[in-house]
Amino acid sequence: MKGLICLAGCLAVLFCGQIAAGGTYLDRFDVPDDAEYIGSEDCSMCHEEVSDFYAHSAHHPERGLAIPGTDIAGCEACHGPGSVHVDEGGEGWILGYEDLGALGPDGRAAMCTQCHTDLDLNWHTSAHAGTEISCNDCHRDQVHHGGLARPAGEYRNQTEFCLQCHTETAAQFRMPHRHRVLEGHMTCTDCHNPHRGVDTGNWDDLNETCLTCHTQMAGPFVFEHAGVEGEECLTCHRPHGSQHDKMLTQSGNGLCLQCHVEMAFSTDQNWSLGGQAHAGLMMGEARCYDCHREVHGSNTDPTFYDR
Ligand code: HEC
Ligand code: HEC
Ligand code: HEC
Ligand code: HEC
Ligand code: HEC
Ligand code: HEC
Ligand code: HEC
Ligand code: HEC
Ligand code: HEC
Ligand code: HEC
Repeated sequence: MKGLICLAGCLAVLFCGQIAAGGTYLDRFDVPDDAEYIGSEDCSMCHEEVSDFYAHSAHHPERGLAIPGTDIAGCEACHGPGSVHVDEGGEGWILGYEDLGALGPDGRAAMCTQCHTDLDLNWHTSAHAGTEISCNDCHRDQVHHGGLARPAGEYRNQTEFCLQCHTETAAQFRMPHRHRVLEGHMTCTDCHNPHRGVDTGNWDDLNETCLTCHTQMAGPFVFEHAGVEGEECLTCHRPHGSQHDKMLTQSGNGLCLQCHVEMAFSTDQNWSLGGQAHAGLMMGEARCYDCHREVHGSNTDPTFYDR
């Protein structure tokens, strides 16, 4: 029986090496040749506490969640083949503190993405990749090791879970003009996927996130504003909160003049644009978008004028 499992296990290790490109998890360690996979049942005899933890998690060993394409499941998916350890009454080889403790955040992510292969594809683009934070830090409720964060289950909502580390972000959501995240109307993950990042250089990616809710800004418009279409919403808006109305990056006309510099250099001192001398119009407190109101695009007016 043991031989059979060993065969499956050994084949599985080879097989697994082909699946997870970019270096497999187990390749990082010196695994003794005679160590075999024996399943998680034996472990629970001596490691009651840990086994009990897993019995109440999504990773319950009895569910037999195996590394895709292999039979390797349960405790041994992370601790390696356990036969030597068990045969020697807990003295023999196992991946324990020394090896696992030496893993950096990447190695710890690789431990999980043996199975969570879909996340493997995107993790390296996520906000926390390359930081000290790895999967287990946020998912302590599902795995029994490490964890820089207290698990989400200990907070009233997911926003508070994120804010336990991002304390400085909370201040932005207390600005006078803000997304109502602290009030519970939205969550951090409406915009931030914890497992993949947004390419902020790409209209279709970061902006799409905003446009899933703000559909009216998506267009297409008969008259597109080249200052919005193909630009980032963040050219003019702060994503969390701002002291300026409509979460603008700045309240004055500098917002528009960052691109419409031609006005500042108008040869006739009149700020003529489109046959319109703006100098007179700009007296007092007038703002560009008091007149050019449909900043994001218009179906009726080429200058986004709201007449
Ligand atoms: C998802 C990966 C993973 C799984 C599954 C896993 N462990 Fe662990 N385990 C670790 C890591 C990583 C450590 C190292 C602890 C650290 O560095 O904080 C560890 C530490 C341990 C330790 C030593 C510390 C302690 O808590 O006593 C034991 C014993 C242990 N695991 C047993 C088990 C058993 C038994 C199972 C199955 C019921 C299991 N582990 C499942 C990753 C895992
Ligand atoms: C016969 C009892 C016994 C069985 C069965 C057993 N262990 Fe252990 N294990 C021990 C003892 C004893 C230790 C050392 C004392 C300690 O740290 O708890 C230990 C330590 C460990 C450690 C920590 C090693 C370190 O670096 O300190 C891990 C991880 C571990 N066992 C995992 C497993 C896994 C996975 C299985 C099932 C494949 C298993 N054990 C089965 C008795 C056992
Ligand atoms: C042996 C394969 C395997 C390993 C290793 C593994 N997972 Fe999983 N995990 C799964 C499977 C399969 C599911 C889906 C279970 C289900 O159907 O509910 C799952 C579910 C989860 C869930 C979802 C729980 C829920 O409530 O929906 C989280 C979170 C998770 N795993 C995190 C991790 C983290 C973090 C690690 C590494 C520390 C890890 N997993 C390692 C196979 C694995
Ligand atoms: C910064 C915290 C954080 C990190 C780091 C993190 N996650 Fe998650 N994860 C979450 C949150 C929050 C959810 C809840 C889903 C949601 O609301 O989007 C989640 C959900 C999950 C789920 C449930 C199914 C799903 O896809 O939504 C799995 C599985 C999972 N994470 C695995 C992982 C793995 C594997 C890693 C490392 C590669 C990882 N997580 C890193 C916070 C994190
Ligand atoms: C255990 C602490 C911890 C938790 C929990 C946590 N983060 Fe982080 N986060 C960090 C650290 C550390 C960094 C990297 C250092 C930095 O830039 O602040 C980071 C970076 C980020 C960044 C990138 C910052 C930048 O400057 O580019 C974003 C975005 C982010 N986290 C969002 C989230 C979200 C959303 C959640 C909840 C799902 C979350 N974090 C949960 C610790 C945490
Ligand atoms: C409405 C969408 C949205 C929501 C909701 C949101 N964020 Fe962000 N966040 C962004 C965008 C967009 C950026 C800027 C990304 C860039 O410039 O690369 C950002 C940047 C960050 C940064 C990087 C540092 C900074 O301030 O620029 C952190 C950290 C962060 N967010 C954490 C959080 C946390 C924690 C929450 C929940 C409390 C949250 N965010 C909610 C959209 C959002
Ligand atoms: C990121 C750069 C950028 C910003 C910021 C910007 N614009 Fe534009 N805007 C353009 C470009 C490019 C055009 C295309 C017309 C051109 O070639 O000058 C344009 C065209 C216009 C037009 C004329 C449309 C036409 O068909 O000639 C108006 C009116 C206008 N913008 C108003 C504004 C206002 C008001 C603001 C501030 C809320 C603003 N713009 C901010 C880049 C910008
Ligand atoms: C060229 C600068 C600029 C860009 C780029 C821009 N906006 Fe705006 N946005 C504004 C200005 C100015 C206002 C305030 C208009 C007013 O008060 O009449 C505004 C207002 C808004 C409002 C509030 C509307 C209301 O009626 O209260 C939302 C929502 C919004 N923008 C979303 C977006 C989204 C989503 C994007 C990216 C697709 C985006 N904006 C890109 C300048 C811009
Ligand atoms: C999950 C839905 C959702 C997403 C995603 C979202 N918003 Fe919003 N946004 C809202 C709601 C709801 C409001 C109404 C204000 C409130 O929170 O009460 C709002 C308000 C605004 C306002 C007007 C604020 C004011 O002071 O009147 C602007 C500007 C805005 N969002 C820009 C953005 C930008 C830029 C993004 C992308 C970084 C974005 N939104 C992503 C839901 C969303
Ligand atoms: C009091 C109203 C008013 C204000 C304030 C105003 N404009 Fe205009 N703008 C006009 C009128 C009227 C025209 C002539 C074209 C038209 O009828 O729409 C015009 C034309 C333009 C054009 C040229 C359109 C074309 O046909 O080429 C641009 C670009 C422009 N304005 C940008 C701005 C910017 C940037 C600001 C802020 C610095 C601004 N405007 C402030 C009323 C205004």
